[in-house]
Amino acid sequence: MRPLSDWDSWVSSRLDRLELAGIRRQITPGDRTSARTVRREGPELVNFSSNDYLGLSRHPAVLAGSERDLRKGAGATASRLMAGTDYDYAALENAVAFFKGTEAALVFGSGYLANLGTIPALVGRGDAVFGDRMNHASIVDGIRLSGATAYRYRHNDMDELEQMLRDAPASGRKLIVTETLFGMDGDLAPLERVVELKNRYGAALMIDEAHATGVVGPQGRGLAHQLGLVSEVDVSMGTFSKALGLYGGYVATKRSWADYLVSSARTFIYTTALPPAVVGGVGAAIEMVLAGDYLRQRLAELSSMFREGLADLALDRLSSGSQIQPVVIGSAAGVVEIGARLERMGVLAVPIRPPTVPEGSARLRFSICASHAEEDITAALDALKKAAG
Ligand SMILES: Cc1ncc(COP(=O)(O)O)c(C=O)c1O
Repeated sequence: MRPLSDWDSWVSSRLDRLELAGIRRQITPGDRTSARTVRREGPELVNFSSNDYLGLSRHPAVLAGSERDLRKGAGATASRLMAGTDYDYAALENAVAFFKGTEAALVFGSGYLANLGTIPALVGRGDAVFGDRMNHASIVDGIRLSGATAYRYRHNDMDELEQMLRDAPASGRKLIVTETLFGMDGDLAPLERVVELKNRYGAALMIDEAHATGVVGPQGRGLAHQLGLVSEVDVSMGTFSKALGLYGGYVATKRSWADYLVSSARTFIYTTALPPAVVGGVGAAIEMVLAGDYLRQRLAELSSMFREGLADLALDRLSSGSQIQPVVIGSAAGVVEIGARLERMGVLAVPIRPPTVPEGSARLRFSICASHAEEDITAALDALKKAAG
């Protein structure tokens, strides 16, 4: 057996290596002092690193939904298949299915768990999965865990996707997985083309609407609704942790597929159900999202204001048209330095470095929320001009 000190020196050398490469991550505690601000040791900062796009995490109706169900117990006390499925859970899954326009939905402990459990339930060794290179880590990990052959096409490159579909062995099933609104680039997948290719090559399609849900499409139902493609999507996955302001994930799909996942998605089966207060809050948040055109309107206005201001600065802002606006700096060290300068000017946009984004594309990721004030947008633009312009 290796002596423990060997392990200690191995861990230290790994930490040193991360530090040297400028990609050591650190946890910085703080107080979220309002829907738009955060305090971390120094003065209050305007928070551009929150995914609470509609400001629902603090909405009175959402808090009331959580408070009401908190009385049912602080925890669910069991997994879904044991005694953890309260009637409220079934009601929530019906609400998600209605929201997403599918026959059924299943709620998971988180979006990460939804991807991690669903993909290996659908494909395995001998099958092929095709995913965008900018897909979230939870999709990448789900594919790895499945044992299927992974094909990663360049971001939104439909020609390369088609080439890969053509080249993949004819035996085995094919699954395409893509985000719809990409969380790090802020752009949309060309979903019509993806659907065309899925049909041409007999693949199934799973979409991750984590960042689109609540924001994109009629009543915030997502990109598939916006493009009239709901019936073309086999599995629509999402999370309650972004525009809905809470926690938990879901997949929306056909009744038979959901029934199959109940018996085969290991991250659904072998984990405790979400606490009642979360379930109650999410139910209220879905109602808010459905009725929340005024919030989406406000979000769109603030996002355009930020984008238009950025256009005047000579910065690489990719082709985002959404509430997620990256500013690509390039090196990990460079983005950390600029992030620190912004922070000294009262603006928090946490640097995003590899491996979350590709090597050489370290960036600040500004996440605009409906709860921001116009002065917050102006302050961010001014600070960016001074720090990086
Ligand atoms: C595209 C995407 N999918 C899935 C997830 C995982 O969701 P959750 O935070 O609910 O685990 C995230 C966010 O973290 C994400 O950005």
